[in-house]
Amino acid sequence: MTDKNYILENPDTGEKFFLKKDLGSIGPSVLDVTSIYSKQGIFTFDPGFAATASCKSDITYIDGENGILMYRGYPIEVLAKSSSFLEVCFLLLNGELPNQDELNNYEKLISDNSNLDKTVLNTLKGFKNDAHPMSILSAMLNSMAAFYHDSIDINKEDQRNTFNTNIISQVPTAAAAAFRHITNKSFLGPDKSLGYCENILKMFFGEKDSEFKFDPISSEALNLLLILHADHEQNCSTSTVRMSGSSGVNPYAAISAGVTALWGPAHGGANEAVINMLDEIGSIDEIDTYVDKAKDKNDPFRLMGFGHRVYKNYDPRAAIIREMCHKVLEQLGEKNSPTLDKAIKLEEIALKDEYFIEKNLYPNVDFYSGIIYQAIGIPKSMFTVIFAIARCAGWLAHWNEMIKDPLTRIGRPRQLYTGKRKRNYLPIKDRR
Ligand code: ACO
Repeated sequence: MTDKNYILENPDTGEKFFLKKDLGSIGPSVLDVTSIYSKQGIFTFDPGFAATASCKSDITYIDGENGILMYRGYPIEVLAKSSSFLEVCFLLLNGELPNQDELNNYEKLISDNSNLDKTVLNTLKGFKNDAHPMSILSAMLNSMAAFYHDSIDINKEDQRNTFNTNIISQVPTAAAAAFRHITNKSFLGPDKSLGYCENILKMFFGEKDSEFKFDPISSEALNLLLILHADHEQNCSTSTVRMSGSSGVNPYAAISAGVTALWGPAHGGANEAVINMLDEIGSIDEIDTYVDKAKDKNDPFRLMGFGHRVYKNYDPRAAIIREMCHKVLEQLGEKNSPTLDKAIKLEEIALKDEYFIEKNLYPNVDFYSGIIYQAIGIPKSMFTVIFAIARCAGWLAHWNEMIKDPLTRIGRPRQLYTGKRKRNYLPIKDRR
């Protein structure tokens, strides 16, 4: 690769024009096509944005060919091994890891702000108990947008900081409220004497007025899953947060939009879809049939938890989660898990299959995460909610970066129009 600009030729006029090449610190460079429409009257076409960089970003780097993921330059393996989720939040939001004092202060700040206002909690009353908790969470975030309507000016740093704190502090409380609502239990508020993950587990599973006991492996696993899901550069939900945020909308509403985008089975909803699929595969003997279905072009079935837009190699997060999955099941005394057995066998068969090899389809982050959630007692419909708690860190980091970036303009893609040309309007009486 050179750092020279590209020269393109207009085939109609023979006119030559330059596309400036811009280099990042690592990874592919980009061609700046911002002037191509004004100079040549032509749009670029890239459905699904597979070859389009929508912004410059300092936050997360992925090398999909080599299975590398780094937050602010730190490899995910190192962070997963040595950090707490709040340390990673601090890193994503501030660019640097905290020292001990900074971390202590940050933990206190997050804990001190974890109560939800009553009006936000009242949102629950509009939902039946069989509602999906992702729709409840999204509604509660919109309710936060209404509650903080008068106190969020996105141009003021102190108000942006309050917003960042409120999201990291209060989204777990909102998630727990949704969980207790769908399981017909009364709301249990945050316990400020506990760490971030322990408090989440207590708000989910604790009982009023009785001591909360939990297995330390549950909070260790939750901490790991939150770190691994914290950010993943310009994925669907993060791009949604950036896109909606680019209009200057109340940022709580932008985070709500991120929750909605994350819910889909092609994105964060895959963790729930993986367990549904493993349940549907009755026994190990039926795996071949499902692999054949996934390969059949006429069958919409796909192997959930397999494939990724960016990773064309083993998702580094999946490798870490796979290891934790064994540890959790072993420590919680569920060594013989039929679901894990099916997952391992399915992975083994798919990784040897020509179709999956040729298309570079490997297990992604969500292939094993649901098995861990299940083992620690979290029901399927809550898996993506936990993912959302984690991804709030990334959504915030990107929203803040976008707000401060002088290049930010309202997100407004163009299109290749393929509809009818101008035609005559017929009065209704003349239409056949
Ligand atoms: N099972 C079977 N075939 C697959 C799968 C799969 N899971 N994933 C991709 N393919 C095939 C496609 O049919 C396509 O085949 P073709 O070239 O013959 O048409 C080829 O592989 C490329 O797939 P695309 O859908 O074009 O890839 P894209 O980058 O658009 O989609 C995605 C990526 C959505 C993740 C896809 O692999 C998928 O649907 N996987 C299952 C859902 C899933 O696990 N999502 C979670 C992703 S991780 C996350 O968001 C947290």
